[in-house]
Amino acid sequence: MKKICIVASGGDAPGMNACVKSVYVHAKKMGFQVWGAKNGYDGLIGKEPVLLEDSMLHYVSGLSGCFLGCGRSAAFRTPEGTQAVADTLMRMGFSALVVLAGNGSTRGATRLWQTTGFPVIVIPATIDNDVPFSKHSLGFSSAIEECIRHIDNLKGTMHAKGRDHIVQLMGWGSTAIADTVGQAAFADIIDTVENRHTPEQIVAKFAELQSKGSRSNLMIMQERVDPNRKTADVINETIEAARFLQQIHKIAGCEDIRMTTLGHLQRGAPPSCRDRWLAFHYGKLAVDCVKKSKGGVAITLAGGKFRVVNLEEQ
Ligand code: F6P
Repeated sequence: MKKICIVASGGDAPGMNACVKSVYVHAKKMGFQVWGAKNGYDGLIGKEPVLLEDSMLHYVSGLSGCFLGCGRSAAFRTPEGTQAVADTLMRMGFSALVVLAGNGSTRGATRLWQTTGFPVIVIPATIDNDVPFSKHSLGFSSAIEECIRHIDNLKGTMHAKGRDHIVQLMGWGSTAIADTVGQAAFADIIDTVENRHTPEQIVAKFAELQSKGSRSNLMIMQERVDPNRKTADVINETIEAARFLQQIHKIAGCEDIRMTTLGHLQRGAPPSCRDRWLAFHYGKLAVDCVKKSKGGVAITLAGGKFRVVNLEEQ
């Protein structure tokens, strides 16, 4: 009987629970066991995963977050930590590790495969939609739906007050959320790492629009974080955002431009139907890879078809 271990690495993403369920359901049909690492790779370093059972998976597919726990592991990034993960998996007789991964975690999974030879299967899962081999990561559709819902709520109050508004969205180094939501919301300014705006430019643009009779104008801003960071720098980023707004107010000569940060509301969005559907197929294909003893691969949706690609080619 084959044994599959599943780990959720990086930030959690809506659809992860549905994907764990899909791996479980499809593996069960093959007579395989599925185990889950608790809290990311840390749950495989000096610790053991837990055997999943039917009772754990009844209601999870509609829940955001990840019931196994999810994390960025500093220990796993070291060569010793990577080897320790492989040792745990080999000692416990696993056939493969399914990794629910964003951009950074895909690099980690590739390193695990290349340095230890342990078979890994990557499933793209991050709201940032920045996994190199996939334009369809789990969580992205849920997050953008949540963003647009909040922005629609904001538009009413913005218009009533005649105020311009900056909405700060997540994304780490990826422009996907800001670009997609910015376009869908018909934002007047879309500010991303690829197209940053100075406070002067923002104030001038809003003033121009107001002078033409537009009472309330919207700027979507991809969070201004250091894309090379390994962990969040919450305090400094919050201070920087406040300073940025302060500069804007100083130049505008009033405080009528407001800023809202949607933050983790985006990531905690209920999984959309699309993300659950992706999760179903990604999980199914991952189990198929285990059945065929394929390792060092990733699952993707490309050209309308679910596919398996080699990690080395990414
Ligand atoms: O990678 C997903 C993500 O939500 C990014 O968009 C964001 O920058 C980061 O995680 C936030 O991380 P944390 O939850 O550690 O603050």
